Amino acid sequence: MSGVPTPSDDRVVGRPLPHESAALHVTGTALYTDDLVARMPGALHAHPVQAPHAHALVRHLDVTPALAVPGVVRVLTGGDVPGVGDAGVKGDEPLFPAEVMFHGQAVCWVLGETLEAARLGALAVEVAYEPLPAVVTVREAIEAQSYQGGMPRLERGDVESAFAGAAHVYSGVTESAGQEHFYLETHCALAHVDENGQVVVQSSTQHPSETQEIVAHVLGVPSHAVTVQCLRMGGGFGGKEMQPHGLAAVAALGATLTGRPVRLRLSRAQDMSMTGKRHAFHTRWRVAFDGDGHLLALDATLTSDGGWSLDLSEPVMTRALCHVDNAYWIPAVRVNGRVARTHKTSQTAFRGFGGPQGMLVIEDVLGRCAPRLGLDPAELRRRNFYREGQSTPYGQVVRHPDRAVTCWEQVLETGEVARRLEEVAQFNATHEHTKRAIATTPVKFGIAFNFTAFNQGGALVHVYKDGSVLVNHGGTEMGQGLHTKMLQVAATALGVPLDVVRLAPTRTDKVPNTSATAASSGADLNGGAVLNACTQILDRLRPVAAGLLGCAAGDVVVHDGRVRADGGADDGAEDASLTWAELVSAAYVQRVQLFAAGFHRTEGLHWDSSTMQGSPFKYFSYGAAAAEVEVDGFTGAHRVLRVDIVHDVGDSLSPLVDIGQVEGAFVQGAGWLTLEDLRWDETDGPQRGRLTTGSASTYKLPSLSELPDDFRVALLQRAHEDGAVYGSKAVGEPPLMLAFSVREALRQAAAAFGPEGVAVDLACPATPEAVYWAVEQARGGSVPPGLEAVVEGAPGVVPDQPGPAAPPIEPASEELVPRPGPGA
Ligand code: MTE
Ligand code: MOS
Repeated sequence: MSGVPTPSDDRVVGRPLPHESAALHVTGTALYTDDLVARMPGALHAHPVQAPHAHALVRHLDVTPALAVPGVVRVLTGGDVPGVGDAGVKGDEPLFPAEVMFHGQAVCWVLGETLEAARLGALAVEVAYEPLPAVVTVREAIEAQSYQGGMPRLERGDVESAFAGAAHVYSGVTESAGQEHFYLETHCALAHVDENGQVVVQSSTQHPSETQEIVAHVLGVPSHAVTVQCLRMGGGFGGKEMQPHGLAAVAALGATLTGRPVRLRLSRAQDMSMTGKRHAFHTRWRVAFDGDGHLLALDATLTSDGGWSLDLSEPVMTRALCHVDNAYWIPAVRVNGRVARTHKTSQTAFRGFGGPQGMLVIEDVLGRCAPRLGLDPAELRRRNFYREGQSTPYGQVVRHPDRAVTCWEQVLETGEVARRLEEVAQFNATHEHTKRAIATTPVKFGIAFNFTAFNQGGALVHVYKDGSVLVNHGGTEMGQGLHTKMLQVAATALGVPLDVVRLAPTRTDKVPNTSATAASSGADLNGGAVLNACTQILDRLRPVAAGLLGCAAGDVVVHDGRVRADGGADDGAEDASLTWAELVSAAYVQRVQLFAAGFHRTEGLHWDSSTMQGSPFKYFSYGAAAAEVEVDGFTGAHRVLRVDIVHDVGDSLSPLVDIGQVEGAFVQGAGWLTLEDLRWDETDGPQRGRLTTGSASTYKLPSLSELPDDFRVALLQRAHEDGAVYGSKAVGEPPLMLAFSVREALRQAAAAFGPEGVAVDLACPATPEAVYWAVEQARGGSVPPGLEAVVEGAPGVVPDQPGPAAPPIEPASEELVPRPGPGA
């Protein structure tokens, strides 16, 4: 734990504690949803029948051969659904589809005594398909005008006059790839029915309340008849925000129809072929600079690859549009968003939630244009930073823009970047076939759900007669350390040692109507609620303590399990004091309520989705990273030699957890940008639309060997954030975007193979192959394959504007479309 400062005030928050389940994780004793099957005798196993077409009609479905397979108990089909046969929050995801919309989609589910029996049963189900033409790539979708959902536009200033008066205008196309979540725990649900008909679903879900709602809709019962519990997830990364619902519904349906527990766990191959990924984006842009390299205007159309249904595509697009500025002041902006409908899995939330895809656009623009402007890319970036008093294109004042500057300057200083740049220059001068570069990039990321209503959290805190404390809160644990932080918040708020507090599993019957644990706001929302509950309890205990200590209630101090009057001597022994347990016991006898429901709503937020204006974020998270890479000119293979990061988490609630989050997010971002390469079959044959990189053997993830050789992460100090829990800031997603530094360093290293000042266009992901082509371009070749050249002096309009039929984005874009409940 060295290197992490302990705050002087000795609070439990701010201490560098290990993750609350660290010992369970490393000994293999932590329980995940699928581990609970062993505790549920008689559970049936569910196996999907997956369609072998990207797009087809189901002409005929015969389950009788499956029922003849030994061990097969039942086959679930559309006719079995008592409620709504749809698992999408937009009502666009039929659970048992008559029209197959992606290769691998489940058309029905087989329940067996064993997984093997269910698998053999699934093979025996006879399905007749009528194949239909499929749209596979986002470019095909643009060509075919295949879109879904709203088409928002975010606009500020007079874009046309900014372009007319600009010294430099460039236009180009930027594409970013999707990304598989590859959580170690695949999707899993385990459902059973209690003696009184209560449906209980254990689910690997980031959003238990919404899983509960969808299960209730499908079963045709009220929400109170369904309880969803999540012990923990083996990673979610956004992939379990909306995608668990349908799987939980299938398990729940099976359990209600058979009266037996049903376990549904996807294999890795099923998980990869059936569940959504990060949205790939295609962006056509033009940009205007003045003679000094100041951004004047950005005009762009962002098209995301939504896959077959909407899922979270609209809010992901909103966040992308709200982050095209990253940390830069752009006076005139017009950005359009639209969601392509393709015959693929329904793309979904993934760490950053569209933010990375939006920010990539401006970082790519700056990286490509800097040489054309004759500027050092770091200088170009620094010159365009937000300044105090400026606001984002959606009208939110950028508070504390100086923090981005502080992170940036600190990274340059502690990373000794100036000295190392000289070393890099020397290295490059003496190495013909290997080149190095250092790139520095900033991050500014808005915290809170864009959709204001989601910014609420709940908690239920019990103090038992013996003084022990049990905390329930609405957030889920997926490895990010939320539970650790909530324990620290509760212990700090009540003034008790950490081991007095215990955490209960996340359950919808304890804390209702929760928001997804997402948008990095788990600690803000649930921490606020835990703090609120603990404060209520302490406020009731104070008068009891005052009576026992003979002081005023306002003078009672509870710290580290001791209760005393403020101003009393600190040696404890002769001073009048009580233990926490004595106080609680006395309060019980006096019939004082020892439990409380806590609630938190983030104040000061507003957002108008029809005008795309407002102040949707509570605050911005800032950070900066300097990455040094080395590129092999023969192969494009590369290594990350060193990374320095300074990241702003406010006053950290839990510094070890936060440093882990920064490291993990950075590596995951670097994976997205430089390694992970999702490929779908684009040929015209029967395999069209199949995910060809459907396992770890074909899909390259970052692992230990891809870590930076030298990795230095620092949290910004003296960074208290007013109005947030104990001055802390969210951490889960923002550091992912620090990985832009790696991609930009690769671009600069590739450029170092060519003449001074050469401009390089780099594909995304910057795989060795892509970097190789960038090196070739620097050496005098053409624009790398698949990329479009940046054009100077661009056309008057971005050619790819949405058509006139574009409806405004639905106000309820992030909202569960209210559907009438049974009998409602
Ligand atoms: N860290 C781990 N170890 N595993 C995860 O699945 N998910 C990320 C991030 N960090 C994730 C993680 C995502 S996408 C989000 S939104 C946040 O954690 C959610 O948790 P928080 O709101 O408590 O930060
Ligand atoms: Mo995170 S993508 O908001 O679950």
